[in-house]
Amino acid sequence: MDNNPGVLRASGIWGVGSSVPERVLTNADLEQMVDTSDEWIQSRTGIQRRRIAAEDQAASDLALEASRIALDRAGVSAEELDLVIVATVTPDMAFPATACIVADRLGNNSAAAFDLEAGCTGFVYALTVGSQMIATGAFNRVLVVGSEILSCITDWEDRASCVLFGDAAGAAVLGPALPGTGILSHVLGSDGSGGDVLYMPAGGSRLPATEETVASRQHFLKMKGGEVFKFAVRAMARSASEAAARAGLEPSDIDCYIPHQANNRIITASASRLGIPLEKVVMNIHEYGNTSSASIPLALAEAWENGRIEPGDHVLLVGFGAGLTWGATVMKWMSDEERVL
Ligand SMILES: CC(C)(COP(=O)(O)OP(=O)(O)OC[C@H]1O[C@@H](n2cnc3c(N)ncnc32)[C@H](O)[C@@H]1OP(=O)(O)O)[C@@H](O)C(=O)NCCC(=O)NCCS
Repeated sequence: MDNNPGVLRASGIWGVGSSVPERVLTNADLEQMVDTSDEWIQSRTGIQRRRIAAEDQAASDLALEASRIALDRAGVSAEELDLVIVATVTPDMAFPATACIVADRLGNNSAAAFDLEAGCTGFVYALTVGSQMIATGAFNRVLVVGSEILSCITDWEDRASCVLFGDAAGAAVLGPALPGTGILSHVLGSDGSGGDVLYMPAGGSRLPATEETVASRQHFLKMKGGEVFKFAVRAMARSASEAAARAGLEPSDIDCYIPHQANNRIITASASRLGIPLEKVVMNIHEYGNTSSASIPLALAEAWENGRIEPGDHVLLVGFGAGLTWGATVMKWMSDEERVL
């Protein structure tokens, strides 16, 4: 590998892929499970249905499928990968890392691999880490995945949160790019003082699993929805405009705005603060709900598949999530000719 200390390389996305489980859970299904209504869910969140994993499906299963598609589209073989990062809050198990499981199942037994946890901002964090690794010359072909089985940490008796979430995975293969193309800027941040508005209390070293923690439902996600909402609109608008500025752009220069899919009102409020018209906003929350770190790469892959992203387009990804965390990145979508082999 051409490792040239001190000279940073451009990097970009060579291929994207996604995967969702087959089972569809509609708002009408939820009406049978908790005291809610299709009208409430749609008017408050925009969600109509979400996908739910089969009992034997774990985060690595969806990650694997999304990764194979991304690798195929990138024209990169699994053996060529030298780094695999999986962003997730629902890993297969506490350890080993889901990234190691994915790399092995792809047929790669030498790449560096680790999981990254930054709540729903996980994919933007992982993309930033991966692209910086390419920039320094440390790695050449990086697989970045967001994969979640949120259904296994959702409290199906809590109507305020269970209507929001779904399961999915999205993946991107990163490689070197011609200067001025690919990833142009990043913004990442966190404020741990907001840790108590979105968290899962038990199962870690603070509150290890006991019969009592299971009985008191401490292994499910807890959320103060209103507080998350207020934070989300501010954090998305602020980090998106900062990422645009760092790329030397105005929000109005953005061709495709891909926000974390948590709530259609959060998405439209952030777009309106940025002055980005709705036709440039990618929204698939009605189909999948909030899939945490999978939501941005899932929306990105679908936007690409639907021809909404062309080479040369300025694409802005922005997320927020548990931590609290936030992050945004701007890229100039690459053509195949702009890859540096
Ligand atoms: C959760 C969320 C949809 C609630 O929407 P909202 O407009 O803020 O609704 P409110 O919290 O004001 O709740 C209004 C009422 O609906 C009730 N309610 C909550 N969930 C309900 C449901 N599924 N069905 C029917 N009623 C529900 C509440 O109990 C409340 O009743 P009350 O006024 O009698 O107390 C919204 O706050 C949200 O999306 N927050 C962000 C969550 C998020 O993104 N989390 C993940 C971040 S990565």
